Formats: sequence, C-alpha cells, structure tokens
Amino acid sequence: MNKSESPRSPRRILFVCLGNICRSPAAEGVFRDIVERQGNPQEWTIDSAGTGGYHVGDLPDNRMRIHARRRGYELTHHARKVTESDFDDFDLIIGMDNSNVANLRRLAPSPEAEKKVVPMADFIGKAMRYDYVPDPYYEGAEGFELVLDLLEDGCQNLYNTLQTLP
Ligand code: 4NP
Repeated sequence: MNKSESPRSPRRILFVCLGNICRSPAAEGVFRDIVERQGNPQEWTIDSAGTGGYHVGDLPDNRMRIHARRRGYELTHHARKVTESDFDDFDLIIGMDNSNVANLRRLAPSPEAEKKVVPMADFIGKAMRYDYVPDPYYEGAEGFELVLDLLEDGCQNLYNTLQTLP
C-alpha cells in the first residue's frame, strides 16, 4: 500500500450461499435496502453468488421472492457462481453457513484473499439463537421466514459495524 493511502472501510460486499437462489440473493436484497434507506448507495457494491452452479442464470426461488416481497424486498438477482476474481473485486465475502465458508476458503487464491471470507453468523445477534443461516430449500414457509429474520438482524449489525470503521 502506498504511504498516502489509508485502509478504507469495506464497501464491496459479496454474499454467498450454495445455490445463489435463496439465502444470498435475499441477503443482497436486505443489505441493499438498508444501504438505500440509511446510507449512500453510490459508495457500495453489493452482490451475491453461489459456490454451486446448478441454478446459474435463474432468478431467486419463487418462495424466497414471495416471502421477501411481503417484507418489501424485490429480489431480481440472476444466479451466478463465485469466481476467483471475486476475491479481487470484493472486500468482504460473507458465507451463509459453515459449508459455504469452508468452500470459499478453499477457493481463495491467496492467504490475503482468504481473510476476506467471514461467516454471516459473525453479525447475527446472540438472541437469534442461530450460528448459521440454514438452507430453506427443502423447508416450508417457516424456513424462508427464518432466513429473512436472521438476515434482517445480521445485515443491520453488519451495516452498523462497517459504519464504525474509519
Ligand atoms: P441457497 O439454497 O443455497 O440458499 O440458494 C439452495 C438452493 C438450491 C439448492 C440447494 C440450496 N439445490 O441443491 O439445488
């Protein structure tokens, strides 16, 4: 780093799950909504991706879109797979569960890149009683509601945390 540059607070955030059709596009939508209501959207790059490629190009799962829409989030992301260049293009890469985090750490091209990978659970309040964001794909409506509850809590805490950094 050049002497005149100072490390800047992370503003390029990538949310990652397995399929990129349920949890991570919802996280992207929830976080974007917070930034649009509480911050300066122009400062931010917010995106999502999956470690698996089964749903590349698809809109989020219909059930996720319906539950998100009821809370005011319109999810329009098209699924894509995580790439090595994401480790250059983003400051923080947030995995929804332990398996996502382990896969991301394996994909990281360098120790520096690996440091960008953090679990979403790091930002979810203890009162929520979850240390990961569970995959809702094979669950009923409660699974999707739970994901949104966890993400609303976690994304607000993430935003607050990043606001405290210089
Ligand atoms: P996500 O959920 O990782 O939250 O997008 C899943 C979506 C699809 C599959 C698994 C998880 N799948 O196996 O197709």
